[in-house]
Amino acid sequence: MRVVSDASLNDDLGYPVVIGANARSEVAAFARKEGRETFVLYDANRFVAATARGVAKAARAKALIPFPLGERRKRLATVERVLDAMLAAGAERDALVIGVGGGVASDLFGFACAIYMRGVRYAHVATTLVAMVDAAIGGKTGVNLGDGKNLAGSFADPAGVFCDVAALRTLGQSALREGLAEVVKAAIIEGGDFFDWLEELSPHPFARWPWTTLVAESVKVKTMSVADDRLESGARQVLNLGHTFAHGIERASRYRITHGAAVALGLRAAGLLALRSGRFSEAEHLRVLTLLALLRLPLHGPIDGDAVLAAMSHDKKKRAGRQRFVLPRAIGDVEYGVECSPASVRAVLRRLQKAPSARG
Ligand SMILES: NC(=O)c1ccc[n+]([C@@H]2O[C@H](COP(=O)([O-])OP(=O)(O)OC[C@H]3O[C@@H](n4cnc5c(N)ncnc54)[C@H](O)[C@@H]3O)[C@@H](O)[C@H]2O)c1
Ligand SMILES: [Zn+2]
Repeated sequence: MRVVSDASLNDDLGYPVVIGANARSEVAAFARKEGRETFVLYDANRFVAATARGVAKAARAKALIPFPLGERRKRLATVERVLDAMLAAGAERDALVIGVGGGVASDLFGFACAIYMRGVRYAHVATTLVAMVDAAIGGKTGVNLGDGKNLAGSFADPAGVFCDVAALRTLGQSALREGLAEVVKAAIIEGGDFFDWLEELSPHPFARWPWTTLVAESVKVKTMSVADDRLESGARQVLNLGHTFAHGIERASRYRITHGAAVALGLRAAGLLALRSGRFSEAEHLRVLTLLALLRLPLHGPIDGDAVLAAMSHDKKKRAGRQRFVLPRAIGDVEYGVECSPASVRAVLRRLQKAPSARG
C-alpha cells in the first residue's frame, strides 16, 4: 500500500488518498484512528462484495449494507433507500460511513452522507479506475435527474479515499478503458515523464501495468487542479480538457456512446480545434492520437454534428453565445477559457466522423 508520497498534496486536499493493493489494512488503521461507529455500504456486485466484506471486517463495522447500483439507479429514489437503511442500521450523526464501489457508488453514497442528518463523515474505497482517478476525488457528489447526468448533488469532501488497485484485476477491459480516457487526459495536462511513460506502457497487456504508480500519477494531476482551484484561480477547469465535446457527444448519442469513449473523441476534437488556431503542433496532436489508438479508445464515430453542437450549447461553459474550450498548447501545457467560433467547432465535428488522416 502506498500513500501518495507528496504529503503537501494530501494537506492541500484536506484528506488522505491512499493507493495500493491492500486497502483493508489501511482502512482498518483509518477507522481505528477515527474511533467512530462504522457502517459499510457497497455496490452489490459480487466482486465489490468480496472487497466490502474484507473492509467491514477490518473496520469492525456495525453494519454491512448492499445496494444494487449502476448508472440507471443513480437517482434520488436510491438515495432515499440508502438514507432509510442507514437510519434502520442505527447510524448516528457522529458515525463514519465507508462506501465501497465505483464512481456511481462514490457519487451516490457521498451525496447520501452529505445530507444524512445534515452530514456524516464519509470515506470511499474505490474499486474502478474511474472512481480512483476521478469520481472519488474532488468532493463532487450527486445523482441524475430526468435525462440529465449529475443534476442534483452537493460539494462534500470525503474523509478519506482508498484506491484498491487489487480490485482492478476483476474489472473488465471496457471499464478499464473508461478510466484510461481520463488517465490520458491527465497525462496531456501533466506532460513530461507521465505522458512518455504512458506511451511506453500502452503496447503492453494491462495485467503487467504498474497500476499503483499510474493511479498515483493521475490522482496527483486531479488533486493539484482541485487544490489550486481553492484559491479561485480557475485551475480546476483544465480537468475539462476534451469534456465540452465529450458531454455534447454523449448527450447527442443519448448516452449510447460512453463517457470514456466520448472523452477520447473529445481529446481528438480539442487537439483539432487547437491545431486550427495554430496553438498546437501536428506532431504532438499525432502523439496523443497514437496513444489513444494503442489503448483502443475510439478516434472517430457516427457523430451527428448538429445534434452535438445543440447538446454542447447546453453546456455550462458557454458565455455570451460563444463557446469556451480547454485546449492544449502542448503536451503538458493546457489553457482554458479559449473562445472558438461555431464554424470551427462544426468543422472539427465533421472530422470526427472519419478516422484520422496523416494530419490528425
Ligand atoms: N464526481 C465526480 O467528479 C465524477 C467524475 C467522474 C465520473 N463520475 C461518475 O462516476 C460514474 C462512473 O463510474 P464507474 O465507471 O466507476 O461506474 P460504476 O460505479 O457503475 O462501475 C462500473 C461497473 O463496474 C462494476 N464494478 C465496480 N467495481 C468492480 C470491480 N472491482 N470488479 C468488477 N466490477 C466492478 C460495477 O458494479 C458496475 O457494474 C458516473 O456516474 C459518473 O457520473 C463522477
Ligand atoms: Zn470525465
